[in-house]
Amino acid sequence: MPATADPSRPLVIAIDGPAASGKSSTAKRVAAALGIRHVDSGALYRAATAAMLRLVPDETTWTEAAVLAAAQAVTLEPVDGTFRPLLDGAAAEAELRGVAVTSRVSVAARMPGVRAWANAMIRSAAAAHPVVVDGRDMGSVVFPEAAVKVFLVADPQERARRRLLERHGREPSPAEVAAEVAELVRRDVADAAQTIEAPGAVRIDTTGLTPEGQVERIVALARGVDRS
Ligand code: DC
Repeated sequence: MPATADPSRPLVIAIDGPAASGKSSTAKRVAAALGIRHVDSGALYRAATAAMLRLVPDETTWTEAAVLAAAQAVTLEPVDGTFRPLLDGAAAEAELRGVAVTSRVSVAARMPGVRAWANAMIRSAAAAHPVVVDGRDMGSVVFPEAAVKVFLVADPQERARRRLLERHGREPSPAEVAAEVAELVRRDVADAAQTIEAPGAVRIDTTGLTPEGQVERIVALARGVDRS
């Protein structure tokens, strides 16, 4: 039975899952296959964190009000099939993906006001365009009405291996994988309260799937949506 969606609203496909489960790369490819835009919600939390970090390096002193004030420097701009967060009007991709932001982003992402800020930005992007959104709570909290909801999971060893392969462009050693698994587990714990599998989400274990296989499954779900 195809999923149904309100035809008066732009289509939303929500892809959630833990760190390094392949959400963003899969979401980007699904969006390209369907000819719609991708929104990476984690990038917004990263942008707010980077903006705050430029002002105050010690995250143990951050308050919600200060992070929200710093986040006023963030805008979400439609660029090349995606929505990219800009900091003071400029792209800052390397800064957003760097260790300094990655190791502190959970602090900002746990603040309810920061979540409300990010969710409002994401909803306003999706109000105007059909989108594939990826994150932790897109199908459960932000778009409970999404036409397609997917929750990606993968074995921690495999998540670590993929992340290192992407970072270094070569197969990692067992010791490197073990260290990365420890870091992923740390992040899983830090983000656990925000990572909510939506009722009715299609759970896909990507451990043994190729990227193409994951994309095909989600595109097939999206093509089955009845919007008549
Ligand atoms: O997916 P990512 O690693 O880029 O996410 C960055 C951080 O933002 C991570 O700590 C989890 C958090 N996040 C969140 O709490 N809710 C989302 N919808 C997306 C990301």
